[in-house]
Amino acid sequence: MKALVLAGGRGTRLRPLTHTSAKQLVPVANKPVLYYGLEAIREAGITSVGIITGDTGHEVREAVGDGSRFGLEVTYIPQEAPLGLAHCVLIAREFLAGDPFVMYLGDNFLVGGISGLVSSFERGGYDAQILLTRVAEPQYYGVAEIGPGGEILRLQEKPEFPASDLAIVGVYTFSPAVHEAVAAIRPSARGELEITDAIQWLVEHGYQVHSHLVEGYWKDTGRLQDILECNRMVLERVEPDVAGTVDQMSEVTGRVVLERGAVVENSVLRGPIVVGADAKITSSYVGPFTSIGPRCVLRNAEIEYSIVLDDSRVEGVSRIAHSLIGRNVEVSRAAGVSNTHELMIGDHSKIQVKA
Ligand code: TTP
Repeated sequence: MKALVLAGGRGTRLRPLTHTSAKQLVPVANKPVLYYGLEAIREAGITSVGIITGDTGHEVREAVGDGSRFGLEVTYIPQEAPLGLAHCVLIAREFLAGDPFVMYLGDNFLVGGISGLVSSFERGGYDAQILLTRVAEPQYYGVAEIGPGGEILRLQEKPEFPASDLAIVGVYTFSPAVHEAVAAIRPSARGELEITDAIQWLVEHGYQVHSHLVEGYWKDTGRLQDILECNRMVLERVEPDVAGTVDQMSEVTGRVVLERGAVVENSVLRGPIVVGADAKITSSYVGPFTSIGPRCVLRNAEIEYSIVLDDSRVEGVSRIAHSLIGRNVEVSRAAGVSNTHELMIGDHSKIQVKA
């Protein structure tokens, strides 16, 4: 069994972050979302992994290397353009050879790992296996229509009028039969080779496609609210660990991880929170479900339910919530001018200020 991890794509829903970096590397509780997937693959006993990369390939390579850190052997497969999930299978043909494989979308987050999925696929002798989960807004997902006996009747990609609320989770297992399917299908109206069409092709040609409902937590982290929600979920389970220093004027409650070199002075920290190495928090409030990246500086600031990436600075600002702040960002108070916002914001940014 091999694994094919998809880490290319456009990431349009996460601009401007994805202008400069891979969405699969956005940290959840200060660890790139992609790492959780790679760890789940290793836990399932798979070591041979192909990673599809796009424009941000150099960054993914830098973060994952040869995979040995994860106990994996990684082969990189560059994709010339984001031509669809089934296109990824097409270009990975040589790497996959005739082996069955698990396909894992690099920005997906699945609690509970994939060992159960892999072993049920191996036991069942299926040609494909998909995971389904109930969602509130199925129009944003691949959607499955299921018959009375649980058989798959029809799959649709981001349908305007969804036939069910069962979304297809971004972790699939395939036998080599999928190669015939991806070679047979044509690009969809949006110009992509859709994996839903390939699976539909397998269903229509008498191959055994099995589905089952995911009991655990799953999120596609392609949108801001999903990343924040995922961050909350991971932080809910974090083990407290204070390797940094907290002065006597500060109050730290709940589960808090303070990495090495992090300094907290005259501040209130209400966990669950992670604070990265060498970050400095002074005269500030950090509320629940917040991840502060390494080397960030918070001064006279209030923040909660947010993610701040490496090397950013937040000063004199109250209160930031439900926010994702990129790397090397500076958020501060406009000097001497009341009721004024002074902004220098990159393309495709989204700012919501107090009314
Ligand atoms: P999507 O989130 O469906 O696509 P996207 O990355 O283009 O995102 P957006 O809609 O915000 O523009 O992709 C799922 C995963 O698969 C994601 O990790 C990117 C990856 N992917 C590829 O590697 N190659 C592709 O051709 C596509 C479409 C996605």
